[in-house]
Amino acid sequence: WDRRPLSVWRYRELLPVTIKPVSLQEGGTPLYHLERLGEELGLPHLYAKHEGMNPTGSFKDRGMTVGVSMALQLGMKSVACASTGNTSASLAAYAAKGGVPAVVLLPAGKVALGKVAQALMHGAKVIAIRDNFDRALELVRELCIKHGIYLLNSVNPYRLEGQKTIAFEAVDQLGDVPDRFVLPVGNAGNISAAYKGLRELEGLGFIDRLPMMTGIQAAGSQPVVQAVRGSLPEVVPQTNPETVATAIRIGAPVNAEKALTAIRATGGTAAAVTDEEILSMQRDLARKEGIGVEPASAASVAGIKKLVEEGAIDRDERIVCVVTGHLLKDPETVIKQCPSPIEIEATEQALLSVLHL
Ligand code: F0G
Repeated sequence: WDRRPLSVWRYRELLPVTIKPVSLQEGGTPLYHLERLGEELGLPHLYAKHEGMNPTGSFKDRGMTVGVSMALQLGMKSVACASTGNTSASLAAYAAKGGVPAVVLLPAGKVALGKVAQALMHGAKVIAIRDNFDRALELVRELCIKHGIYLLNSVNPYRLEGQKTIAFEAVDQLGDVPDRFVLPVGNAGNISAAYKGLRELEGLGFIDRLPMMTGIQAAGSQPVVQAVRGSLPEVVPQTNPETVATAIRIGAPVNAEKALTAIRATGGTAAAVTDEEILSMQRDLARKEGIGVEPASAASVAGIKKLVEEGAIDRDERIVCVVTGHLLKDPETVIKQCPSPIEIEATEQALLSVLHL
């Protein structure tokens, strides 16, 4: 075991694939100690697991290497998903590697540019529907049932099998169980997958306690947070979700019940962060830690900031925040926040002048 490199397939005995996997060398992502931000927040043990460092720039690759491998193992001839962007980019790439055609349904006008670019370039059939993600998922589920296409959203259990390796790696890298595991929540697949992974580690005797599972949503799209904080027995879907973090713009998360179990069974919690808090943390991660993430990913760390300010968490905790996707996924949101480059004549004088030298 110890000689196997850190990757999804390091844990192959705990995965359902028996054929040679369709792999682009996913997983093995860095776990960064956020020293500067942690000091500012008074959290000496704050870490970020940068899932943007996967082959297509998001954690979805962990699910897709297993999901597309299973599609082939089961003899399926085509694959499909609905997506807020990252799932489609990842499916397109793994379908290309596996040699199967892919169809992806996106909410028209609400997917970050980099993600659409990836889905198109990797050769998926890209369909933009004039409605939101929740409707796209309903449509693609019907399509797959009626036409024998293999559905690769997180309702597919094999996707979650791949994604559970996020938790395996974090424990491997930290050398211990973190006290708290923090994830941005959209369709709630990833937090459910991480919890499953942790339960398996516990069952196998590798760890003896579970981290407090903590889910963060955007204020404009927070059905899971409302259930956790309002103590509703279950999640009430939201009809018009809206947030700058388009990756988690989801009102009716399909894995909501599993997420609630994960949070409640571990004494975890949930929090909602505003778009401003998300963007501010995106800048802080970029400028204080050198870590470039997309808005949805900054939500996990923004949520911890909020919880610590509310006095809801202990400052001595060892906290792992999963940052789920790369900065370059959504260049438009980045450019909007930053000043334009300073354009000058190509002379030394002009250069010195703008640098006030
Ligand atoms: N962060 C990013 C960057 C995402 O793309 C997603 C989900 C999440 C967090 C939330 O994960 O859905 O498992 O709770 N993106 C999906 C997609 C919905 O279609 O790419 P979740």
